[in-house]
Amino acid sequence: MSTAFSNIGSLVTNDLELGAGLLGEFKDAAFVVEDGLVTWVGSASELSATDELVDIGGKSVIPGFVDSHAHLAFAGDRSAEFSARMAGLGYEAGGIKTTVAATRAASDDQLRTQIAARVAEFRRSGITTFESKSGYGLTVADEARTVRLNAEVTEESTFLGAHVVPAEFAKNPGDYVELVCNEMMFAASPAAKWVDVFCDRGAFDFDQSEQVLRAGMAAGLLPRIHANQLEAGRGVELAVKLDCASADHCTHLSVRDIELLAGSSTVATLLPGAEFSTRAEYPDARRLWGAGVAVAIATDCNPGSSFTTSMGFCIAVAVRDMFFTPEQAVWSATKGGAMALRRNDVGGLSVGMRADFAVLDAPNATHLAYRPGVDLVESTWISGKQVHRRNS
Ligand code: NIG
Ligand code: FE
Repeated sequence: MSTAFSNIGSLVTNDLELGAGLLGEFKDAAFVVEDGLVTWVGSASELSATDELVDIGGKSVIPGFVDSHAHLAFAGDRSAEFSARMAGLGYEAGGIKTTVAATRAASDDQLRTQIAARVAEFRRSGITTFESKSGYGLTVADEARTVRLNAEVTEESTFLGAHVVPAEFAKNPGDYVELVCNEMMFAASPAAKWVDVFCDRGAFDFDQSEQVLRAGMAAGLLPRIHANQLEAGRGVELAVKLDCASADHCTHLSVRDIELLAGSSTVATLLPGAEFSTRAEYPDARRLWGAGVAVAIATDCNPGSSFTTSMGFCIAVAVRDMFFTPEQAVWSATKGGAMALRRNDVGGLSVGMRADFAVLDAPNATHLAYRPGVDLVESTWISGKQVHRRNS
């Protein structure tokens, strides 16, 4: 069964050989999907007959967004903390504990319902692949179940037992690190692909973070890290040392950090929603691009520092406040996200890629930043099947 998608005003392929500019943009395009994969990309006028034809009506098509950093498994509400911050209070890692209490108290089915609602919001925003972390359980049983619940909705499930030291271990954080590296790792790793650690002020230091990531790697997980969000610490250094797929946040970077990232295969994942919602200083993406660092943009959807599921919003903020060009931002939310998850089957639309894409009610992808706050995603497709269609 072959399906053609034709009459596409602007197609972002992320393939420099297929189209123009960084996004490999192909105008008046069409592509064919068979068995969930792209089998042909070309000019609409050269399209051959297929079993089915979908007319895109001159609108634009982009690869589905790849959200490489999210925390979907949580319960509770922290809008009061957000209000207090907007009234002048600072953001600290400690707020995570409020969510931990609510998440521990929630049943599996209550968490499932909340995760499903967030996944539906992701689809509405054009996100087709996403990562999701544990980290709001912080007991062996609660970490194991949140890793498992995430694995029910994504192949990119991350064990983040080292999110913060829970209150019951406040006097002996070393014991908590031991628990994470041993019993908790044993219980959580079977349903996880990734191990992550919050390496920052108020969370875990360099040595503790290295211990956690190495224990995860020994258990067969791939490392990624929350680094340099609250201060210019040594998180990026550790990310490069252990060949983490991604160093996330990168809000405060030294010249040396940028050099290290540029010489590595670690992606710098920027999280515009986090700086926006914590009223923090934004990292300078132009500087990173100029230095040759691979950059991704992700939502960081979480109840404390970035409760957004809108990649369009993140792109708009990234362009306005992180100095991305619109093209760089779209690339970073698609191809960059795929690189941050070490995936080469998503994040682009060329032959052999999974047919994951979003149809934008706009003449080109620049409109994602040019029309902030406007829901431009008309439909979202995974493996050539529609998973969301906007009303009206
Ligand atoms: O990515 N930095 C650590 N984790 C989250 C925040 C979690 C929270 O405040 O609940 C983040 O920003
Ligand atoms: Fe995070």
